[in-house]
Amino acid sequence: MNLKNLLRKKPLEAYHEDIKTSQLTRTLGKWELTAIGVGAVIGGGIFVLTGVAANQYAGPALALSFVLAGAGCLFAAFCYAEFASILPVSGSAYSYSYGTIGEFFAWFIGWNLILEYMMGATTVAVSWSKYFIKLLHLSGIHNTPPWLINDPVTAKEEALRLGIDPPVFSINLPAALIVWVVTYILVRGIKESARTNNIIVSIKVAAVLFVIIAGVAYINPANWQPFIPERIVDTSGTGHYGIYGVVTAAGLVFFAFIGFDAVSTQSQESLNPVKDIPFAIIASLVICTILYILVSLTLTGMASYTELDPGAPVASAFSAVGLHWASLLITIAAVIGLISVMLVMLLSQTRIFLNMAKDGLLPPKIFATIHPRYRTPWKSTILLGFISSFIAAFTPIEKATKMTSIGTLFAFSMICIAVLVLRKNQPTLHRPFKVKNLPLIAGLGFAFNLLLMFSLDSSTWLRLIVWSVAGILIYFLYGVKNSGLNKIE
Ligand code: ALA
Repeated sequence: MNLKNLLRKKPLEAYHEDIKTSQLTRTLGKWELTAIGVGAVIGGGIFVLTGVAANQYAGPALALSFVLAGAGCLFAAFCYAEFASILPVSGSAYSYSYGTIGEFFAWFIGWNLILEYMMGATTVAVSWSKYFIKLLHLSGIHNTPPWLINDPVTAKEEALRLGIDPPVFSINLPAALIVWVVTYILVRGIKESARTNNIIVSIKVAAVLFVIIAGVAYINPANWQPFIPERIVDTSGTGHYGIYGVVTAAGLVFFAFIGFDAVSTQSQESLNPVKDIPFAIIASLVICTILYILVSLTLTGMASYTELDPGAPVASAFSAVGLHWASLLITIAAVIGLISVMLVMLLSQTRIFLNMAKDGLLPPKIFATIHPRYRTPWKSTILLGFISSFIAAFTPIEKATKMTSIGTLFAFSMICIAVLVLRKNQPTLHRPFKVKNLPLIAGLGFAFNLLLMFSLDSSTWLRLIVWSVAGILIYFLYGVKNSGLNKIE
């Protein structure tokens, strides 16, 4: 094998050819794209992770953790936006690096984006299942059999906790089923998906605004004192609070931002991608960051951070001030709202697969076949639905969440480097969206994302390494031989 192949780049003309021959329909305007971004971003992160992050690590300074994680994302978002304006194709960071750094790195980034999108959707399916069960409980249905609503590991832990025999077989059926509902919507078509997404996003944003508006009257500023609680180390040696705690919490709540870059996978379905994709990437991130900061200030102002329930922070803050009915409303909105996160994540994953398959790095018969009537990559959507529902049915959520974060952070760091490389190698290229002070912005993006990667534990790193090795093997066994660039050379 010729090692030079690893660095071969897809010619920019080939991208233009892809755009011309795309069979996807262009229907999405800039606000629909922004809704796709917001739809992918607001989900389990804000509804669930804020609890642990405030209670265990940041205290009232949770808002600062959101600023930190949001800043890292914003630097990466600018880099994404510049790339998206140059290459309005739907493969996101994968396509951008194929044209700039080279084939091997592109594959590697694409492989890690699977962690962001497929694992992300799977994680959210498990969160959705938790909210769904909570909704059943709030509606008076309590006798849900534990073996039907938990993965085997969680079912065993639950049985141990209750001092009963663990079930012989266990499956998280709601998580698996919701993935199939989303898969069905996706196979039926992009316009239908966008319409469903718009409705769900409106409900979700309304719920978040409700938390802020209804909660603000109950804020007791005394709960914000001290804003950064003094650092303590517990008996197991785990540190809590202090500046360090704020950084740890930022690594945790980073998950809440994942998804804004999903907009970049919709370029070929966008009416005016060169302008609207950069706009939507940045707009969706800014909207969500502002909402997150306000929600975290509200929650930590309504109840002391020590009283916020790590599993259900929003509901506990409202229960703490006696507004139990509000908990029910928020749970309903979460059950509806999390669907759009899955919708966008799985949609994005199929678009990245489509690009990889068109380039010959994945089998095109499965990943690049477009349905004659629905105009969607239906085979890969169904395959993805199958894999995601299987993982969602049998995997505990914590591991999936951290895998999603580390894969995404890795892809973000690479994209910051890739955009700089392109500036250096092709300085005269037309850039409809050009970032000012790029070396500074990209440098900060790289540093922030690396910092957040290092705030994740060693077992997550180990899983990333195993995953990466698997990806490298697949590339050498399949991609190298089947790459479309073999025909050009
Ligand atoms: N950002 C998405 C969420 O919080 C993945 O659910």
